[in-house]
Amino acid sequence: MEPSPHRLCVAPMLDWTDRHCRYFHRLIAPRTRLYSEMVTTGALLRGDAARHLAHDAAERPVALQLGGSEPAELARCARLAEEAGFDEVNLNCGCPSDRVQKGRFGACLMAEPGLVGDCVAAMQAAVRVPVTVKCRIGIDDAPEPDCLLRFLEAIEAAGCRTVIVHARKAWLQGLSPKENREIPPLRHELVRAVAASFPGLRIVLNGGLREPAQVAAVLAWAEGVMIGRRVYEDPWSLRAFETVAFGPPPSLEREAVIEAMVAYATARAAEGVPLKAIARHMLGLFNGLPGARLWRRRLAEGMHRHDAGPSLLREAAASIDGRLAAAA
Ligand SMILES: Cc1cc2nc3c(=O)[nH]c(=O)nc-3n(C[C@H](O)[C@H](O)[C@H](O)COP(=O)(O)O)c2cc1C
Repeated sequence: MEPSPHRLCVAPMLDWTDRHCRYFHRLIAPRTRLYSEMVTTGALLRGDAARHLAHDAAERPVALQLGGSEPAELARCARLAEEAGFDEVNLNCGCPSDRVQKGRFGACLMAEPGLVGDCVAAMQAAVRVPVTVKCRIGIDDAPEPDCLLRFLEAIEAAGCRTVIVHARKAWLQGLSPKENREIPPLRHELVRAVAASFPGLRIVLNGGLREPAQVAAVLAWAEGVMIGRRVYEDPWSLRAFETVAFGPPPSLEREAVIEAMVAYATARAAEGVPLKAIARHMLGLFNGLPGARLWRRRLAEGMHRHDAGPSLLREAAASIDGRLAAAA
């Protein structure tokens, strides 16, 4: 049987999972599903849509995450995403930031399951690719697990088949988005209990997954896992997560990834993309190995120079060769 398309996903992360980051992650993890940063309907419909939708076919399978709450606008944006080649459109119902709340979307939509149902139905009617939702387990003092139950009932009735649940509440007052990813307690077991009541919904668990063994345990009951910060900080960890999710990936050296990124950065440089826009996602590539700090420093210092070119990646790698060899 084919593994679920959502068995292993890298989370949407604003300012982090841009197209360059996704290209880099794809080189390391050929079987993982990747998500864009959140793009608002306003930015797509009234801003530079081409820039927001730009990506490389090599990133696929890749989902575009939308932020919005107006069904007709979301439907138009879903169509734009499908036409641009995205494999899935995801609706953000988990972001707690003030800016997002003012726009009446993100996590505050968990209090409006009917509206979210209308959004999902309008989007799904506009595209053939799957429309999925990413949510929290609840907001503020909404009773548990009723808030999540009502929400999942509404999106399932609207035709959604896959939902990603970040297993903590969002507290909409008084916490920064960062604190909202750390302070509300993780409740994996609540998601597991709720999943059992929705056999028709494929539930992907997100939040606090850092170790392969944890991921293996979750995959025993969930459709898939979505991992965010751990992968960004230590991109090579994707190899261990792929091993757990799908079996060992083909052998690969970091040097091969760096060479591929030199080629990628060279192609982007011709389009005016500065090296730092790409290299900043690669700072954690050697995490856990001797030389990790030197690599990070070489890259971080070098990429800000006005004449920084793609060969910096190669030079920074060469500078830590001795340390890697000594440890081997
Ligand atoms: C820098 C950063 C930006 C994020 N931006 C988004 C976003 O645009 N959309 C979204 O749904 N979640 C966003 N998140 C939340 C992640 O998708 C994920 O739900 C959260 O980090 C918990 O997963 P983790 O513990 O594996 O990191 C962001 C997280 C971080 C760290």
